[in-house]
Amino acid sequence: MQAVRSADEIRDVNTRYHDVAASTYDTKWGIDFGEVGQAQVLRKLRKALGRELGGGFERGLEIGAGTGYFGINLVQAGVLREVTCTDISPGMVSRLGENARRLGVRRVRAARADAESLPFPDASFDIAFGHAILHHLPDLELAFGELHRVLRPGGKIVFAGEPSRVGDQIASVPKRAAGLVAPLWRTALRAAAATGPSEGDHGHAAAHALEQLVDIHAFVPSDLAGIARRAGFAGVNVRGEELLANWFGWFNRSLESTAAPDEVPMAWRQYAFHGYLWLQQLDERALEGRLPAAIFYNLLLTGSRP
Ligand SMILES: C[S@@+](CC[C@H](N)C(=O)[O-])C[C@H]1O[C@@H](n2cnc3c(N)ncnc32)[C@H](O)[C@@H]1O
Repeated sequence: MQAVRSADEIRDVNTRYHDVAASTYDTKWGIDFGEVGQAQVLRKLRKALGRELGGGFERGLEIGAGTGYFGINLVQAGVLREVTCTDISPGMVSRLGENARRLGVRRVRAARADAESLPFPDASFDIAFGHAILHHLPDLELAFGELHRVLRPGGKIVFAGEPSRVGDQIASVPKRAAGLVAPLWRTALRAAAATGPSEGDHGHAAAHALEQLVDIHAFVPSDLAGIARRAGFAGVNVRGEELLANWFGWFNRSLESTAAPDEVPMAWRQYAFHGYLWLQQLDERALEGRLPAAIFYNLLLTGSRP
């Protein structure tokens, strides 16, 4: 495998990988734009901002928006009046536009942009946010400088779904455990094993190789907070979320990935989905805020431009 050396190569790999991933992204990750998806993103925004969420925001900017999971759902949930959703991958941007049109959600603008070089005037947004994006960016200092520039004074930043270094290491345990029990699990469910990409399918084989190269950071909470503070943000807070829910989720997702998708019974999918939601609540009520942020899988960053 070729090593990725420069920031430009990282951006290029991210663009190519996500361009290929765009058409199957929503199915692969179970992205929902209905009640469940809206409740999930709203829950994260409430957790991040608490009372500061107030009546919501007028002008939102999303970086690394993918197919629109956060931005579109926040507009649908009524906490954002309008949003500009950006992504470096043209494939993702066009899929996001299609999703917004299909759902009939207006006030969503989709634009191609590198998060480290935002094509917007100073002070043009009230909130800037992202989900599972910071760990793909080669130059975080540059990105946070840009976020600071395009936010109006008093504007907020919210980032969710960023992997913590310790949480990422712990998550390898359920992933490995799933690999060990997968043959038994498939036998019990009478599910055939997944077949790999066909030899003629160069696009998908290449995408699989790139997958290893796009995730370039897993964060220590204090380091992430330091980057935001150095860019000029105030009231910076990094907390951890989802512990048991993530172990459960990774274990099940790793099992499922070993079976042909059509062969995983609906009853199993329902169990995995509801189990995840239940553990998410348990994490929030019993563990988050009590245990150190570093051991959770996901980090949630907030701050504001003074
Ligand atoms: C893991 S996906 C998350 C997508 C979406 N936020 C979600 O939660 O479903 C990461 C996204 O970041 C985008 N991305 C990667 N590097 C980027 C960069 N330098 N600038 C903007 N977007 C980038 C990718 O194209 C991809 O759509």
